[in-house]
Amino acid sequence: MTHIVVLGSTNMDLVAYVSRAPQRGETVTGREFRTIPGGKGANQAVAAARAGADVSMIGAVGNDAYGSQLRSTLENSGVGTGHLRTAEDASGTAHIVVDDEGGNAIVVIPAANGTVTGLAPGDESLIATADALLLQLEIPLTAVVEAARAAHRHGVRTILTPAPVQPMPPELLVVTDLLVPNEHEAAALTGLTDPHKAATALLDQVPEVVVTLGAAGSLHAARSLAEPVAVPAPSVTAVDSTGAGDTFVGALAVALAEGRPMPDALAWAAAAGALSVQRPGASASMPYRPEIEARYTS
Ligand code: RIB
Ligand code: NA
Repeated sequence: MTHIVVLGSTNMDLVAYVSRAPQRGETVTGREFRTIPGGKGANQAVAAARAGADVSMIGAVGNDAYGSQLRSTLENSGVGTGHLRTAEDASGTAHIVVDDEGGNAIVVIPAANGTVTGLAPGDESLIATADALLLQLEIPLTAVVEAARAAHRHGVRTILTPAPVQPMPPELLVVTDLLVPNEHEAAALTGLTDPHKAATALLDQVPEVVVTLGAAGSLHAARSLAEPVAVPAPSVTAVDSTGAGDTFVGALAVALAEGRPMPDALAWAAAAGALSVQRPGASASMPYRPEIEARYTS
């Protein structure tokens, strides 16, 4: 089995389902409320574990009821939580509005995630044993940089999702092997709205980029390729796209760790993402390996 380590956030997602999101100053009546475990780090960990890897999570939950739920959700999906701390703080929460088209708007309150400012004893040895380290930006940048550098020292591939998008220090990008922004993040990072151009521009900073394009699939750019290559996604009806990007990245990391070539790994990840948008919630909607295999077409 391949071994994936994820450093990142855990959030309880507090989700309101509405026909359309309210404008500023407006009140709308929603249809349903759900609490569903999420957080970009935990989501990627659950996605990778369900896709068939041995996964360990580094991060923190709060010392409250959400914290225990977040921890047990990870464990129930087979994610190792020996390096997941319990902080003297509340659990992170994400306040999410999902509309009738499956689109969302999210406010994240980091809380416990904000205490993850660096690696703890033992974290680096764990990272050293991994096939890949998955990173996002919902915990302090100091920890992301420290972990990426540790991975780099041990020759472990680093896969960074630059979300929520923010300026990244050069010392992070220099140890990033694969950057996976969505089209909005790619535009924010480069000032270029054309994903082809944005992906190409990002190659000045990292050797390989995958821009996710939602229903339109993804775009792979690498210094070793003459130009970006598009990989389509299965066409499905979305009910809730929350965590679809995380599902994609988790599955992609597993396929790459198994040695699949990039175009094939992207098609496999697209199948996982497409399955997740057809069901509500982040972690709750993530497919297990047999389902991905059945949906995947090379
Ligand atoms: O990427 C989706 C995730 O972003 C949600 O699960 C929510 O917790 C926010 O962090
Ligand atoms: Na979903």
